[in-house]
Amino acid sequence: RTTAVILAGGTGQRVGLSIPKQLLKIAGKAVIEHTLTTFEKADSIDDVIVLMAPGYVPDIERIVAKAGFTKVTHIIEGGSTRNETTERAIATLGEGLAEGEDRNVLFHDAVRPLLSRRVIDDCVAALDRYQAVDVAIPSADTIIVTRTHGEDGEFITEIPDRSRLRRGQTPQAFKLSTIRRAYEIAAGDPNFQATDDCTVVLRYLPDVPIHVVAGDEYNMKVTQPVDVFIADKLFQLASTAAPEQIGEEAYRELLSAKTVVVFGG
Ligand code: CTP
Repeated sequence: RTTAVILAGGTGQRVGLSIPKQLLKIAGKAVIEHTLTTFEKADSIDDVIVLMAPGYVPDIERIVAKAGFTKVTHIIEGGSTRNETTERAIATLGEGLAEGEDRNVLFHDAVRPLLSRRVIDDCVAALDRYQAVDVAIPSADTIIVTRTHGEDGEFITEIPDRSRLRRGQTPQAFKLSTIRRAYEIAAGDPNFQATDDCTVVLRYLPDVPIHVVAGDEYNMKVTQPVDVFIADKLFQLASTAAPEQIGEEAYRELLSAKTVVVFGG
């Protein structure tokens, strides 16, 4: 059994709107509705739970009812950090589990509405062999590591070999028993700090290999104001491009979000 956990507990400070960015309408639908539609349609997903920013649970209930999503079993409030939100999801999923039973769980950022079903299916398939799976793409930019020296500002301390660097996306997929164990150990660490879930496995269950599935460039995270514009353009492309204009094969690839679209030129 595979459950998708939609992490929507944040308020989107960096985008800076008066509502959480997952409720912002892009291409006619709330960002999170696009995300939920993809999981609803994915055959490899059995059920979905949503963890929403406090105060906005009724908004999700309305969206789910109106769209008629059948896989959503729980809509609950998230925590004050992304990791606390994950912990709440783990607790909720654990309640429905019989002794010795396990299940697959995919944690996905609500604000990555352009996820393709290919990536979802690859994560679920990888859980047949691995207990932990991440999704990542190569980095086009050189990544530098810096240190800040007071008022003098930032200085480079390291430039890692770009060919080995990847940009982590979501979903991050786990056996529920594995991610639960990792968080149990983390709970005993007073210095616990992370911004994603694979970090928790890497740090507290270092013997568990974390397999990496290829993500795609489309699977962007709406984080900064400019991302709202980019996501809107990507949705427009996917919905307005007709097969005869761009060729049947390219069209299918576009809709399954496997293609990198070149603007202009
Ligand atoms: N998230 C969550 N619970 C939190 C914080 C974040 O479930 N307490 C979710 C967000 O809703 C989002 C995903 O984690 O879907 C990625 O986080 P991020 O882009 O940082 O979202 P926000 O915290 O909303 O953004 P910001 O940091 O700009 O406030």
